[in-house]
Amino acid sequence: MVVPAFGHEFKSKYFTLLDPNVTLINHGSYGTTPTCVIEKQMEQCKAAELYPDEYLNETAEENYKHQVKVLAEYLKIDWRNLALVVNATVGINTVLRSIKWDFSKDKVLFHSTSYGACGNTVKFLAEYYHLQYDVVEIEYPVEDDQLLAAFEEKLSTGEYRLCMFDMISSQPGVMLPHENLIKLCQKYSTMSLVDGAHAAGQVDLQFLDELHPDFLTTNLHKWLSVPKSCALLYVNPKHHATIQTTPVSWNYTAEGCQAIKDPKTAEEIEHNDHLMHNKFWFSGTVSYAAYFCVEEAIAFRKNICGGEEKIREYQWQVQKAAIEAITGVFGPGSKLMQNSTGTLTTPGLFNVSLPLDAKYSSIQQKLSTDFNFFRRFKAQCDVVARSKKAYAPFYFHGGDAWVRFSAQIFNEVQDYVVAAEIIKAIIMERLDEQLQLQK
Ligand SMILES: Cc1ncc(COP(=O)(O)O)c(C=O)c1O
Repeated sequence: MVVPAFGHEFKSKYFTLLDPNVTLINHGSYGTTPTCVIEKQMEQCKAAELYPDEYLNETAEENYKHQVKVLAEYLKIDWRNLALVVNATVGINTVLRSIKWDFSKDKVLFHSTSYGACGNTVKFLAEYYHLQYDVVEIEYPVEDDQLLAAFEEKLSTGEYRLCMFDMISSQPGVMLPHENLIKLCQKYSTMSLVDGAHAAGQVDLQFLDELHPDFLTTNLHKWLSVPKSCALLYVNPKHHATIQTTPVSWNYTAEGCQAIKDPKTAEEIEHNDHLMHNKFWFSGTVSYAAYFCVEEAIAFRKNICGGEEKIREYQWQVQKAAIEAITGVFGPGSKLMQNSTGTLTTPGLFNVSLPLDAKYSSIQQKLSTDFNFFRRFKAQCDVVARSKKAYAPFYFHGGDAWVRFSAQIFNEVQDYVVAAEIIKAIIMERLDEQLQLQK
């Protein structure tokens, strides 16, 4: 197989829907989809309209199961534990709202850098039903051992029924020692809910069938080239009977969705093997068009890109050059967010600090501690960054300003020079405005 060179030429050939004037260095937020996959999605939209009764009653169920199996084979994991849902937020909600909590005593643990929507799901359960929760504070750059020790200090109290943690966080865009976190949860008999929103397409998932966490969700639309909205939900077999879809639907009482206790015959075993799919293929009328592109997305990654290894190899390569270019633009003192063992970065995500002059120190202090002030400041910067077509999320962490960048097969180092210059200029302009207001 001849693998085409990645970079801008690759982009103009395979990502023709992207505005050529956009410098796309924020793949991490929503993903980008190759044109051939979007064409497949359009085909599916049309197929659904051809004869809706047949499509929704026959084709949808059959194709849903087919796509899950194709995906499982590609990721080398057991298809019986997998379902497709629309996004990672739904995956997390599905799990948290399916557990038979004892609201008089159950407690959930998550971390200060958890994704807001997922943390909010726990907070909702706390406010409406009195589920208790606790938070592990994390400040980056952190060593894996320190992070694990912080979790263990809490988990070892034996107080927690479930622990929710990221595989790869959003902001900062960093990897957590997820395999060891799963083992820690198991050591202290705590259920693990892994938020792997950024995982598929960046990290191998075979550990699922080796470590058997309780639950994991990962978007397929972020890094696996599947159109929005599509995510994977992994559920440990011991929870197949209790997991229910979001929203709860016909499947709650449907015969094919009830687990058979102690299955003995081949037929009974087969019934339980299909439980996840029978539950999840229908939970109300939706478009299946994104789900039914999983096979096409995998074909793109296998046949056109040359497979996951080739993709990651390029991402690491472009990331290395990008870090040098960005720190050059951001100026002296700018650094990559990294720990001593180099485990924080992922092929597609890395964070670079933007050093700020001492004259901004009081504003910097306020931006790091007053979230509403930061939100307003960021919103003003983001509007300009988007209008200049070079957006990347920036945030304050540990008192410093950081920008999260993404590396994708269509990027070249020049993208980061352009974006870093634009982002730096915008932030500096807003800081100067604040300085003037203070006078
Ligand atoms: C760590 C993490 N979890 C969950 C999500 C939610 O993903 P979605 O909006 O696709 O549900 C994101 C999105 O960026 C994320 O970064």
